[in-house]
Amino acid sequence: MNTIIDRYGAILLSASLLTPATGLLAAETDEAVRERGRAIYAEQMCNLCHTRDGASGPMAHVGGSLDGLAAKRDAAWVKTYLRDPQSVIPSSQMPKSTLTDQQLAELIAFLLGP
Ligand code: HEC
Repeated sequence: MNTIIDRYGAILLSASLLTPATGLLAAETDEAVRERGRAIYAEQMCNLCHTRDGASGPMAHVGGSLDGLAAKRDAAWVKTYLRDPQSVIPSSQMPKSTLTDQQLAELIAFLLGP
């Protein structure tokens, strides 16, 4: 006999099986990804040392503005830099990022986005 929970589990299971085949994840909008990146930027307190979209943290003079970053850096550069800032800028004081690859991709989509 099927309980509600059994049925719910079956729906979740079939959804997770279908997702890769139907490309539901790929259909997610760039904007949704950037929104998650924006949340990571806030959680990680990047704003402390940077300015972005007119919002400056108390030490924004330290890291400067990240507006228009895409004109200057590409995703590969930003990824390498955030993973290990000193590998790119030996004098860098930024700590190495401990974000997952997916979180990093979302953060970078936000940083390089409009
Ligand atoms: C403690 C201050 C501080 C914090 C917090 C900080 N940064 Fe920085 N950031 C800097 C400084 C200083 C630089 C200048 C280059 C260097 O010294 O590494 C920089 C440079 C950068 C650059 C390169 C900018 C360019 O024009 O090349 C990026 C991208 C960046 N930070 C992103 C971030 C992100 C994303 C976060 C949050 C995960 C963050 N920063 C948190 C201080 C900080």
